Amino acid sequence: MRVVKAIRQRRSIRNFKSDKIDEKLIEDILNCGRLAPSAKNRQPWHFVAILRKDLVEKIGQIMLDTHKKEDDEYVEKVLKSKNSVVATAEVVKQAPVLILIFQINDDNWSTGDNLSIGGSVENMILRSCELGLGTLWIRDTVYACEEITKAIGWKDKDYVLNCALAIGKPNEKPVQRPRKNLSDITTWIK
Ligand SMILES: Cc1cc2nc3c(=O)[nH]c(=O)nc-3n(C[C@H](O)[C@H](O)[C@H](O)COP(=O)(O)O)c2cc1C
Repeated sequence: MRVVKAIRQRRSIRNFKSDKIDEKLIEDILNCGRLAPSAKNRQPWHFVAILRKDLVEKIGQIMLDTHKKEDDEYVEKVLKSKNSVVATAEVVKQAPVLILIFQINDDNWSTGDNLSIGGSVENMILRSCELGLGTLWIRDTVYACEEITKAIGWKDKDYVLNCALAIGKPNEKPVQRPRKNLSDITTWIK
């Protein structure tokens, strides 16, 4: 598949088939994340690939259990959006694979490291798409960082949970979600 095909065909998938995913495919996807560019080549990521269904489900449950009304209010008032954490947690619970992406805990580099992590996640998403797998990039783990970190037994304080990536065979074919027009988001200087 050409890269542009994966870019055009990719959708966020929120309904996965229960089929197990071959570990070799996940290794291939992780390798594509590893090859992403990073600011100062810091490669500020650590991937925790969870293939154990009971643990993936537990993480979804933790997201539900730690969900607070104040978070909904914050998202609604400040971010002017609806909090999706409950819906995301339900997706996590049925995902065959969950990759937790940890970021080096260094305030001096947080912008560059955060951007670099975005690049590595996008690489993994596009490779998954090319392999016929669906993905959901997840920020909603943000409200339960400590609890999730504890649940997987992660002890290295030099890394903090940045986001997660759910992977599985897609059980839906969403249409493309709306995008802004190129002319509305681009300023040409010629
Ligand atoms: C950094 C990032 C975090 C996201 N976090 C979530 C999330 O926690 N839950 C969720 O349902 N979708 C999440 N999404 C998916 C977006 O909602 C989705 O990309 C957007 O609505 C466009 O739809 P599409 O991916 O199908 O094109 C996230 C996407 C990005 C890029």
